[in-house]
Amino acid sequence: MSSAVSEDWIARPGGAIGGRLQVPGDKSISHRAVMFSALADGVCEISNFLTGADCRATAAAMQAMGVRIDTLSERHLRVHGVGMRGLKPPTTTLDLGNSGTSMRLFCGLLAGQGFELTLTGDESLSKRPMRRVTDPLSQMGARFSTTEAGTAPLTIHAAAELSALDYVMPMASAQVKSAVLLAGLYADGCTAVTEPKVTRDHTERMLRGFGYAVDREGSRVSLSGGGQLRASNIEVPGDLSSAAFFFVAAAIQPGATIRIDNVGINPTRVGVLEVLRRMGAQVEISAQRESMGEPVATVSVTGAPLKGIEIDEDLVALAIDELPVLFVAAACAEGETVVSGAEELRVKESDRVATMADGLQAVGIEAEARPDGIRIVGGQIRGGEINSHGDHRIAMSFAVAAQRSIEPIVLRDCANVATSFPGFLECATQAGLRVEPLA
Ligand code: S3P
Repeated sequence: MSSAVSEDWIARPGGAIGGRLQVPGDKSISHRAVMFSALADGVCEISNFLTGADCRATAAAMQAMGVRIDTLSERHLRVHGVGMRGLKPPTTTLDLGNSGTSMRLFCGLLAGQGFELTLTGDESLSKRPMRRVTDPLSQMGARFSTTEAGTAPLTIHAAAELSALDYVMPMASAQVKSAVLLAGLYADGCTAVTEPKVTRDHTERMLRGFGYAVDREGSRVSLSGGGQLRASNIEVPGDLSSAAFFFVAAAIQPGATIRIDNVGINPTRVGVLEVLRRMGAQVEISAQRESMGEPVATVSVTGAPLKGIEIDEDLVALAIDELPVLFVAAACAEGETVVSGAEELRVKESDRVATMADGLQAVGIEAEARPDGIRIVGGQIRGGEINSHGDHRIAMSFAVAAQRSIEPIVLRDCANVATSFPGFLECATQAGLRVEPLA
């Protein structure tokens, strides 16, 4: 699953940004769609499934546990659910590549299956903290082995019974919340998670879509174990996190408009649109509808001269994956942008505070990394070379930045863009960006 071959790109200045696009299916929703359909009591079809390496890793893991998945066409799957207790122990270690979501959600989902299995990942995933899930799950009676640092390879041991937990989560993480709730499906009684800030709620929405009762009171989400998932078809909305690259591309070019159809606008994800609005871009939402409890719409962003703003922890939680590309918007804005309460950014596919600060400095922008965020002073992007450290969102962010650069930007180590955005280069070209593989 890991990207063995490094891939480098060159992104050139200029380009006529604009147009109407579609982006691939939402990563978070695709993971959950395949996980929950696998455990449903019948056959589910998933359309617009994200074929990126991360979601393929989740599907392959389910197949290794005995779930039949037919590929009807490239992005259309038919999953033959085996029921809550129908998974079989895999005969090999499950390699989840670069995907933190797969590993953390599987820890919860598989903790109560009654069999042992081992999860591994690539170099980046093997460095990411797993105690944030293994600690609360152990309180429920689950048993894990990890490295001394609490990282993968991670073995889930067969546990007799899980007990319900009322968990006050120390960090704002949808993966941790989901892992505890998914273990709660197998626990005796009511499992609850209280979150310090609202995080994406796709798990809650999709469980309800599969007929499973999930309650929310303020910041506390709860469910009772022992229920069933009723087979349902799912149409995955376009991924707002992928669309964000093109929205920023338009936002930093006054007068340019990018319109993206069929994109998810779940209120726990729309921080990127709010930040762009506050910076001065024009954001329009039309053709809104609902799909399996998820709001979907056509979103268009028109560029304007942007101004720097303050982004605090509430907004950070709603834009966590879009912050790298929003830092590019900040680099193109007048004045200073200060981001705080963003410690979580340091434990993503790379330390995104450090990789973005280094990258912005490398292309001529004043950026100061802080323990909980960053300060960026808008200015002229000059061009140069950046290392994405194998982090898909860093590579795509600087591909967008090049548009406003004087000289080209060489982007190192971009192969992992395929984990979340297969076809990014084609889509970027369609949007007017001038980015291609380095010859
Ligand atoms: C995700 C949650 C977020 C996000 C990740 C996907 C999910 O991670 O960054 O890309 O699907 O639940 P955290 O829970 O670590 O914030």
